[in-house]
Amino acid sequence: MLKGADVSRLRKDFPLLSEENVIYFDNACVSLRPQQVVDEINNYYRLYSACAGRSSHRLADLVNGKYWQARKAVANFIGAKKPEEIIFTRNTSEAINLVAKSFNFHRGDIVLTTDKEHNSNLLPWLQLRQGGVLHEFIPSRPDNTFDLDLFKKAMQKLKGKVKMVAMVLASNLDGVSIPAKEIIKIAHSLGAVVLLDGAQAVGHKPIDVSDLDCDFLAFSGHKMCGPSGTGVLYGKYSLLEKLSPFLLGGDTVSDSTYDSFKILPPPEKFEAGLQNYAGAFGLATACQYLDGIGLAKIEDHLIRLNKYVSDTLLASGRVEVIGPRDASLRGGIFSFNIKGVNFHEAALMLGNMADIAVRSGRHCVHSWFNSHQVEGSVRASFYFYNTLEECRVFVKIVQQITALV
Ligand code: ALA
Repeated sequence: MLKGADVSRLRKDFPLLSEENVIYFDNACVSLRPQQVVDEINNYYRLYSACAGRSSHRLADLVNGKYWQARKAVANFIGAKKPEEIIFTRNTSEAINLVAKSFNFHRGDIVLTTDKEHNSNLLPWLQLRQGGVLHEFIPSRPDNTFDLDLFKKAMQKLKGKVKMVAMVLASNLDGVSIPAKEIIKIAHSLGAVVLLDGAQAVGHKPIDVSDLDCDFLAFSGHKMCGPSGTGVLYGKYSLLEKLSPFLLGGDTVSDSTYDSFKILPPPEKFEAGLQNYAGAFGLATACQYLDGIGLAKIEDHLIRLNKYVSDTLLASGRVEVIGPRDASLRGGIFSFNIKGVNFHEAALMLGNMADIAVRSGRHCVHSWFNSHQVEGSVRASFYFYNTLEECRVFVKIVQQITALV
């Protein structure tokens, strides 16, 4: 468990929290960054701003080594078997698009998702319909939790046709996690490959890809204290070998002539052109920083805050939550509506009345909101540097807004 003193100590690492009075509850969009990550990025630009994989001078050697160490740090962080299974991308969207555009799909193949995918894990599959690849989804239970029985039945019914199960590990809409291990076992037993969208899960709870046995995991640096413009595609090496890269260029081939080229093995074949070295180093630092705190402690802290907020606000009957009432099923996300108050207006009031930063709208999960005829929600999302005291202020302001209508 993170104690109050631990959180106070950690908060000192975040310049924004000492320089501003903001209550930052928009962590599902982008987290704050500790000084350690900022320093790592700065050091690259100040002290060894060279490239990897090409030149052989001293600075290039240094960057080469650090880039490999960064890959190793990320691999360790998610329990990958080797660093070659880590592809650096710009974000989760790019990682999922990489798979969608490089996997060997055939006409009639099915990609199966949940009914509440972020656009990043929906649009790349919908786009494949042009080539005859089909998309199906598993409707959630009424409380928005995953229906494993329905999934089992669908997999049986579509036996042999589902080539990819692509699902959000923890939803950015409501924080609900899927029973990934069971899903993966079932999918594998029926010949499907599993991709997990880990954008809201990695860095927020313990994730071990070897234990889960997922085939692909996509996630972003910017939601876990890492730099913007950094993301990762983890893939089992044997599967990465089979993907044909959709982006080719510098450092993806070992040789080329005017009419042929020889592609390098993973990870190089997926990382065309000069890379975001500062970003990779910052992301590795973020992984080490989070490991230092402990992912189980982070998860526990988020649920504790969410439980306080949920239990207090839902008791009135004037606040409605998206997802199950039980906060322990929603990680660090409290996505809600105040009866009679527009979600954007509520978010603006939270900002104006107490400088509370939340997101409002449809959170890039338009498909869920459209199908449920809900126009949007206010979303408060917590991270390990948030305090119970901040939650008390949030609850008080929501209650004041509720009293206005
Ligand atoms: N996926 C991010 C969010 O939910 C941007 O806010």
